[in-house]
Amino acid sequence: MAANGQIVVRSLEAAEVEEQLDALADVLFDCVDGGASVSYLAPFGHDDARAAFAGFAAEVRRGNRLLLAAFADGELVGTVQVILALPPNQPHRGEIAKLLVHRRARRRGIAQLLMEHAEAEALAAGKSLLVLDTVTGDPAERLYSRLGWNRVGVIPGYALYPDGRPCDTTVFWKAL
Ligand SMILES: CC(C)(COP(=O)(O)OP(=O)(O)OC[C@H]1O[C@@H](n2cnc3c(N)ncnc32)[C@H](O)[C@@H]1OP(=O)(O)O)[C@@H](O)C(=O)NCCC(=O)NCCS
Repeated sequence: MAANGQIVVRSLEAAEVEEQLDALADVLFDCVDGGASVSYLAPFGHDDARAAFAGFAAEVRRGNRLLLAAFADGELVGTVQVILALPPNQPHRGEIAKLLVHRRARRRGIAQLLMEHAEAEALAAGKSLLVLDTVTGDPAERLYSRLGWNRVGVIPGYALYPDGRPCDTTVFWKAL
């Protein structure tokens, strides 16, 4: 567990992910509502977001993912995941997914804290290589560069924004 001012970041057990489903869903809903390209298309409601995190809770329970959460004054305002379960010939590799910070809590360093903790937990879980992808030109791209991630390149038209417009994706890697 780590505190930065009043921000606390920690890994959640599966049962706690289930307890926090509404708060996690609020964060995902807010990000998609704000136009973030994080797998989902409009219309996307709170129930859709809750169902997504119920699925992630099951993955945490199976040991396939780590799920970290950031709390500001005790309120869950951000989250990130580390996908651990990858093909048998890539046991040393993990993937960062679903880095999400509620709009009302942005620009306070919460995403940076989440990433620093996700990397540390991935290392502790035996991972020595992480990869991720992100929308080209979005704030997250600057964050990853600042945190020492290596930019591989851009894949044009890789994904869609919630409103269906295509977006380019930048792929990154980092050795731990
Ligand atoms: C990308 C995202 C996670 C960043 O979250 P965040 O908590 O605002 O990130 P940080 O606060 O660590 O950094 C954001 C900016 O705030 C700045 N910042 C950090 N602490 C600050 C402070 N105390 N005062 C002012 N600015 C600050 C950072 O330097 C950074 O600046 P930059 O935009 O020039 O790079 C958030 O915008 C988000 O959830 N977006 C939607 C979902 C998404 O795109 N996720 C990425 C999927 S790969």
